[in-house]
Amino acid sequence: MILQGKRILLIISGGIAAYKILDLIRRLRERGASVRPVMTAGAQAFVTPLVVGALAADKVFTELFSREDEQDVGHIRLARDCDLVLIAPATANLMAKMASGLADDLASTILLATNRPVLAAPAMNPKMWAHPATRRNHATLVGDGIRFVGPASGEMAESGEKGEGRMAEPLEIVAAVETLLDTGDKPLAGKKAIVTSGPTHEPIDPVRYIANRSSGKQGHAIAAELSQLGAEVTLVSGPVIIPDPKGVKVIHVERAEEMRDAVLSALPADIAVMVAAVADWRVASAAGNKIKKQPGETPPSLLLTENPDILKTVGHHAQRPKLVVGFAAETQNVAENGRSKLERKGADYIIANDVSPETGIMGGDRNRVKVIGKAGDEDWPEMDKQSVAEKIARLIASHFA
Ligand SMILES: Cc1cc2nc3c(=O)[nH]c(=O)nc-3n(C[C@H](O)[C@H](O)[C@H](O)COP(=O)(O)O)c2cc1C
Repeated sequence: MILQGKRILLIISGGIAAYKILDLIRRLRERGASVRPVMTAGAQAFVTPLVVGALAADKVFTELFSREDEQDVGHIRLARDCDLVLIAPATANLMAKMASGLADDLASTILLATNRPVLAAPAMNPKMWAHPATRRNHATLVGDGIRFVGPASGEMAESGEKGEGRMAEPLEIVAAVETLLDTGDKPLAGKKAIVTSGPTHEPIDPVRYIANRSSGKQGHAIAAELSQLGAEVTLVSGPVIIPDPKGVKVIHVERAEEMRDAVLSALPADIAVMVAAVADWRVASAAGNKIKKQPGETPPSLLLTENPDILKTVGHHAQRPKLVVGFAAETQNVAENGRSKLERKGADYIIANDVSPETGIMGGDRNRVKVIGKAGDEDWPEMDKQSVAEKIARLIASHFA
């Protein structure tokens, strides 16, 4: 009943997935939400305002310079008289306008003027989604607090096109709307959580280091979700290029030893979620100056030494948090390696994923995990990292219910 009485301003932009919005409107309304549609000029090339208005049982707004609607500054009213602004489908064009603060039609002006949460369901050709400009715009919008659902991978409407860019299915969008509007529900209020995220950089000399391909996307999303559920979150992040999540205390570190120190200094806590891809080894004695290449000399050998095991340290600590969750990035025997980690590290759950290069998980936007707990294993279907984060946060919250 989360959506009962909720007012959703639905911005439809000009993507081929606009035809799916008719079903989305029906799904939102059958859960008790009211839907007020705003359509871009592009959207009207795909579905008519007549059919959208009939399904929404409301007027469809299309014009910024409307004498009738602007007598009482209608665009500001539209932007504020709602509980959530939902953009579906969100085109590459609209995302670009939002990221640069453009307001040249009704939809983009509302998006600049709103003070409500905004959820976007992007849909576009995989090449458009993967384009560096769209990647930049997406990162900017995430940093601005815009929430995303999807896109998914699969067949595109255009024949022969396949990949990431399909709009999330209407029911997935409805679930994301429900999660966002579920504000009364703060099951982790009063709980302290520590999350680690990203890679570590282990210096070889002052300019070179050993690193890995972790992007921090999964760990940062989990920190944001725990905060959304009311937890007071400390995020200890290795070097990443994504923005800090909102509402979370972030400690930036480089090396595994620094990460361990930051985690231990954040104890006591109720929850620890160790997502970071911490380097297992570091160079035993990093050079104080840049190692120089000498003509005729054999290349230097690196002697490695073991790094602290942060998950194990936390899992066996005198101030062990009530719930300890670790991640296992594996390229083989995912289940077996994950289960043996559960015992050794003193964790309550291991979230195991296959990070073989062909999965595209490390550094990518999607994840497919196996949740290994004391009571057994559960395979979750592939979904975006945001959705994985939401499910993990809910799983954690269920332990404190
Ligand atoms: C047949 C067709 C399908 C299109 N599908 C998409 C799409 O799925 N996603 C997208 O971002 N743009 C798509 N476009 C391009 C947009 O319609 C175009 O960028 C337009 O300017 C978007 O305007 P709007 O963002 O104001 O709605 C499509 C264009 C055509 C002609």
